[in-house]
Amino acid sequence: MATENASPSSGNSPDGEQTGAAIYASIGCAGCHGDAGGGGRGPALNGSLGIRDAGHLLNQIINGSGGMPAFGDVLTDEQIVLLASWIRDEWGGRLPLPDITLEDVTAARGG
Ligand code: HEC
Repeated sequence: MATENASPSSGNSPDGEQTGAAIYASIGCAGCHGDAGGGGRGPALNGSLGIRDAGHLLNQIINGSGGMPAFGDVLTDEQIVLLASWIRDEWGGRLPLPDITLEDVTAARGG
């Protein structure tokens, strides 16, 4: 019934329908970086040059650093692609960038 707590720890919905935005909101990113990426406990992602670098972005999500927890064990590779791609589309600026792929995630995981 109503808005039951939809598995906030995974960002998964039962029907598998997922978006980067939903993952960002449900898994905790928004709590530290703000709903609109403006920052808070963590730095602003909106306009960050760091997020334009796919390797840096993926490494940060997978391994964390400096007060940010690692999400590599919480998110699947597919979820990381959705999340990272969405973050860059939202806040990475207008310059076109190559798509983030599953291969990029594998590389960032060190495999
Ligand atoms: C507990 C708070 C917290 C949570 C939750 C969190 N972050 Fe962070 N994030 C931080 C902090 C603090 C830093 C700065 C890390 C550093 O300076 O080493 C950071 C850094 C980053 C950076 C690097 C920004 C740059 O400009 O280089 C990215 C990207 C990022 N976070 C994305 C995310 C995403 C995506 C999520 C959700 C999967 C997330 N964060 C969840 C606190 C958090």
